[in-house]
This record gives sequence, structure tokens and C-alpha cells, in this order.
Amino acid sequence: STQLIKIDRKNPDFSVLKIPAAIISKGGLAAFPTETVYGLGGDALNPESAKKIYTAKSRPCDNPLIVHIADISQLKLLAEDIPERAYLLAEKFWPGPMTLILKKSSIVPYETSGGLDTVAVRLPADDIARQLIRLSKTAIAAPSANTSGKPSPTLASHVVEDLGGRIDVIIDAGPAEIGLESTIIDVSTSETVILRPGALSLYDIKKIIPDAYRAVYDKKLFKDKKLKPKAPGMKYRHYAPCADILIVKGNCRAVAEKISGLVKDDITKRRRAGIITLEENLQLYDQIRHSACIIVVGSKKDKKSTAHNLFKVLRQFDKAGVDIIYSEAFERDGIGEAVMNRLLKAASYKVIDV
Ligand code: TXA
Ligand code: MG
Repeated sequence: STQLIKIDRKNPDFSVLKIPAAIISKGGLAAFPTETVYGLGGDALNPESAKKIYTAKSRPCDNPLIVHIADISQLKLLAEDIPERAYLLAEKFWPGPMTLILKKSSIVPYETSGGLDTVAVRLPADDIARQLIRLSKTAIAAPSANTSGKPSPTLASHVVEDLGGRIDVIIDAGPAEIGLESTIIDVSTSETVILRPGALSLYDIKKIIPDAYRAVYDKKLFKDKKLKPKAPGMKYRHYAPCADILIVKGNCRAVAEKISGLVKDDITKRRRAGIITLEENLQLYDQIRHSACIIVVGSKKDKKSTAHNLFKVLRQFDKAGVDIIYSEAFERDGIGEAVMNRLLKAASYKVIDV
């Protein structure tokens, strides 16, 4: 069975981390909080640990793991030919929600790198995560601690739902602050390419590396199966609750009217609908408020709230057992770009314009 360890962020007792650290050193698996989402950690340098991670998550083994470090000095043990750009980014954005792709050193097993000659490295800002890495005396390979294909866990209870009974221990330190996974930047070639948007935006990165650019859009990869994505994870259906999602885009009144019409139609077909909306728009659904499961994901005033809540809300719809989910489209500035990236993937890019 899976052990549960609680840590109070306001008054943390780091000594309890000795238990999961010892488990990781011995080749076991521990889920732990980071500032982005909860990770499923194992010894990054132990191929058996990496195999266990893939099995626990039912993850395809060609989808590489992110290696977490506690100190920037660990970087040169894991990577080779580290370009100056990597250090510029690391000095500016670590510890934080940024993952760098670099040429891997020989100590990183191919099980961890999903067979690639590159390695993904992140130095998280979360004190609990860093303390765990230090105590385990290794680097920790950790994908998001969800079952492959499900939304990433932002609460320890999400990890229990997906991986309870399948891993050794789960550290519960309350909600993950950001709620979306790290920004992935490939610096393993002469170009600087953003493979996955996150809390750190393209705008932030361009301030340090002006010619950085965003990789082929995921939508193209989704529509054209012959294209090969640089981050293997991008080709899989992701972040998806059980129900289908349809994104409705446009002026907020027109969107609410369209969604209300769709919900009325669903009722005649005995389909239960869910709606994802913002605090400011909630009143626009007054007419159908008893006919659909309406969840407020965030507010226009606080853009970060939508990122923080999105994955939790997707899981709430699973519990509510809805058949279809309609979501408003969100503004793409700042962290909004990452929010829409995850929402579009969850919706398999189904969008209607009104
Ligand atoms: O915020 C995060 O990044 C969280 C926390 C736990 O740190 N981790 C996370 O891991 O989101 P995961 O495994 O769910 O996503 C890792 C992504 C995948 O899309 C994978 O394909 C890509 O990183 N990736 C890993 N190594 C790579 C490599 N060498 N080259 C290209 N992409 C890589
Ligand atoms: Mg993941």
C-alpha cells in the first residue's frame, strides 16, 4: 500500500522527507509536490527506477522523463556541451518552472531519457522538492504524477486517485502553486526552441535569448501524424477528462448564448453538460444554471487563477460524470498561452468560433 506523508507549508518539518528520500535511493517511487504540479519521483540514474515510473503511470517508454536537481552544480554531471545560453537561462529562471533540454552525459540511462541522447533538467523552486532531492543524494526523474493521458495532479488527492497502491509514498503539501507544467526549452542544438509553454512565457525568454522561438504548433502535430514532435510527449492525447471538450471562442455574451443553446439541445438528448467559465461571466448562464454543471475556473482579474485551477476543474467534471464539457476560450497573454495550450490538447483542438 501507499504511505501518505503530510507537510504543513506554513510550518514545514523537513525531517519527514528522510523516509521518501530513502525510498528513492533504494529504487522506489515517491510522489512529491513542486511549484508546477506533483511529480512522480525515482532515482534518475537508476534504470530500474525509470522503468517503474513508466509502469506506474502506464506511460509509453519512448516519452522521456524530466530530471530534477537541487543545485545548479548538478547540471554538469547530467549534461554535456552545455552552451552559454543554457547558463544565462538557468541563472535567470532557476529555481523555477523551466526545463532545459541538453545533450545527456553517459551517467543518464537511456531508460530515463526515453532512448534519446538528450536529457531534460529542471531545478524546481519548491523547498520541499529541493530538500527531497538533496536528501536522496541523487537527481530525481519525475514526470507529472498522473496516469498517462489524465490531467496533471495539482493536489495530492489527484495522485492518490491515479497512483494510489501503485507507488511507495505520496508527500502531501497542499495545492501546487502554479498548476501547469514547466516551460520546456530545447538548447541542445544551435537554436533555442520552446517545446512546451508554461508559466514562463516566450516573452520572458526572449528577453534573455532574443531569437528563441516556439516549436511547430501542437495542432499541426495533432492533425498530421507524419510530423515528428521534438518533445515526444506532445504526440499523445493529454490532459483529458473522460468527457469530450468543446471550446467556444468569441465575445463573452455570444459565447454564453451559444453554449446555452448547446446545453438545451443536450437536455433533449439526455446528455449531461458541463461548462467552464470565468467569475465575471457566470451570470451570463443564469438561464441554464439548473441544467448544467457550471464550474468557475478563475477570474479575469487574476490570470494565474485559471492556470492554478484548470486541471482540478477537469477532474471535477469526471467526478460529476458529465457527458460533454463546453469551455470558454481564454486570453492568450502571459500564462494564458500555456492555459490555452493545455485546454486545446484536452479538447483535441475542437473549437468553434461565434
Ligand atoms: O513542471 C513539470 O515539468 C513537471 C514537474 C513534476 O516537474 N513535470 C512534467 O513531466 O510535466 P512530464 O513527464 O509530464 O512532461 C515532460 C515532457 C514530456 O512532454 C516529454 O516528452 C518532454 O518533457 N521531454 C522530456 N525529456 C525530453 C527530451 N530529452 N527531449 C525532448 N522532450 C523531452
Ligand atoms: Mg505529464
